[in-house]
Amino acid sequence: MVALKKKVSLTGIKPTGNLHIGNYFGAIKPALELAKTYEARYFIADYHALNAVKDAAVLSANIREVAAGWLAAGLDAERVVFYRQSSIPETFELATLLMAFTSKGLMNRAHAYKAAVQANVEKGEDPDAGVNMGLFTYPVLMAADILLFDSDVVPVGKDQTQHVEMAQDVAESFNFNYARRDVADAEGDRLGLKIPSALVRENVAVVPGLDGRKMSKSYNNAIPLFCTEKQLRKFIMRIVTNSQSVEEPKDPDGSQIFLLYKLFTSVEEQAVLAARYREGGMGWGEAKEELFRVINRELTPLRERFNAIMADPAKLDATLAQGAEKARSIAAKTLLRLRKIIGIQ
Ligand code: ADP
Ligand code: TRP
Repeated sequence: MVALKKKVSLTGIKPTGNLHIGNYFGAIKPALELAKTYEARYFIADYHALNAVKDAAVLSANIREVAAGWLAAGLDAERVVFYRQSSIPETFELATLLMAFTSKGLMNRAHAYKAAVQANVEKGEDPDAGVNMGLFTYPVLMAADILLFDSDVVPVGKDQTQHVEMAQDVAESFNFNYARRDVADAEGDRLGLKIPSALVRENVAVVPGLDGRKMSKSYNNAIPLFCTEKQLRKFIMRIVTNSQSVEEPKDPDGSQIFLLYKLFTSVEEQAVLAARYREGGMGWGEAKEELFRVINRELTPLRERFNAIMADPAKLDATLAQGAEKARSIAAKTLLRLRKIIGIQ
């Protein structure tokens, strides 16, 4: 009997800043859930981060923190191929190959590039001011990340679906040129490029930040995933609230304190606290203390694992090197296949 091959799930996280609880619930947790049923390939998109982070010490610290963060959150590096993008030179060769199948017009339509141009135009500057080629060709590198590993699904947030669609377009254009459809030969080896699909986490709530907007490092409203208990309390105390008095009944669903509380608690706990909000008699200070208690309860073991991983950099490097080795053996095969197709052997 032929063993059925598991489908491949692949995603990358850009090390552009400290991980926050929005990243944890919105990206890390769901990706780890998928890793239970898919062949998972998760990586740190460090060359993508270079477009924005040009301080060497900051970039290398971010890379370590993101790697340690995934491991502390439960990524099992024995089962998940876990690596740094920069350790896979095949990615950059594939990106060069794909350039020849990517129309410039497609890149002109990328949201991130368009937003940068629009901001420049509004300021009366040159449309391409401050836009480097790394930003302009960002979707090609991302397509290479994805296509190199014959990914079936790419778990991403909504903002990234356009990039996955661009990877589809580029792969289709390659397959069309060589008249290779998305088919496998008798041995099951793929002939062209596999067309990936975005797996958008529709049911994952947008985690609100301290000011009620979407939590994001760019809004300076994030609760970090890893900080000391004391810092965590300070962040939570900064959550913006309205001026309702202690006595007044409060609407739990209208408060980001309660929305955050829901992420860390069982439905039973939520029902108990929601009733207290509605009764009145509980002030925002107490609601924040309750929130701190449940967040700290969940994050304490994560923080301890994170600190232990960060304290042993040699082990972390070895884990990433091992992942890179596994990833490269897959990547080398894909490139060999593609080089044959294009006539460069
Ligand atoms: P940021 O907005 O802080 O720059 P990123 O864009 O680096 O975060 O996001 C990395 C991943 O975390 C993405 O998959 C994104 O969908 C997810 N994510 C970020 N912020 C949130 C949030 N507030 N709620 C849910 N998911 C989030
Ligand atoms: N662009 C993604 C982001 O900003 C990160 C990323 C890079 C990625 N390469 C990828 C995500 C490949 C999925 C697949 O979040």
